[in-house]
Amino acid sequence: PGLRPLIAGNWKMHGTLRASVALAEAIRAGADGLNAELLICPPFPYIQAIAMSLLGQPIAIGAQDCHLVVQGAHTGDVAAPMLRDCGATYVILGHSERRADHGETDAVVKAKAATAIAHGLTPIICVGETLAQREAGEAESVVRAQLSGSLPDGFAEADGVVAYEPVWAIGTGKTPTEADIAAIHAALRQAAGATTRLLYGGSVKPGNAAAILALPHVDGALVGGASLVAEDFLAIARAAG
Ligand code: G3H
Repeated sequence: PGLRPLIAGNWKMHGTLRASVALAEAIRAGADGLNAELLICPPFPYIQAIAMSLLGQPIAIGAQDCHLVVQGAHTGDVAAPMLRDCGATYVILGHSERRADHGETDAVVKAKAATAIAHGLTPIICVGETLAQREAGEAESVVRAQLSGSLPDGFAEADGVVAYEPVWAIGTGKTPTEADIAAIHAALRQAAGATTRLLYGGSVKPGNAAAILALPHVDGALVGGASLVAEDFLAIARAAG
């Protein structure tokens, strides 16, 4: 309560230019009258076209990563100011897929977040335990450690966002119990501060969104698969109240 819900769609590495612009426009067409803030995070090459197409519309655009420095000899990487220049205002950082595929550590995520903030992007810092860690009873300690290692100075002041995504819940159709989500979010609230929006991510669908979004300290959702279907993404946004 008090924080405006944020419903973020992480499109990951999906789509074509034409389909992505059409998806953004379909989401826009259904977005009137929502209480929640909507954010879509397309693949890099589609950000600018979607930003042009949604110019002046109340839907924010974000990227799925940025580099930790702002320019230089880093073949294949994309810098925070470039994203800002193309119309992004948010950036997802430290998603478990990047931690796994690209070896991103907490220290790297922290440096990226500091750079993002310095260049006008709101970072969405992702944390979450593996199944083995949950089964060992370590979920809360793992998530706390990831967060403290990943949060840069000035994070709360930059309206930063934290996303709790249990790795085993991503794309699997499985979710933690409501009590387990609430327990982790209570721990995140302590660490991240009162005004940082805390998102839950991992198999959020229209059918479970209302119950998850009603939990204490859940200020929104980071949605993967269901964000690729305009009606599903909008139904989740409506569930945010
Ligand atoms: O960033 C989004 C998450 O990884 C969740 O993905 O909704 O497909 O489980 P999912």
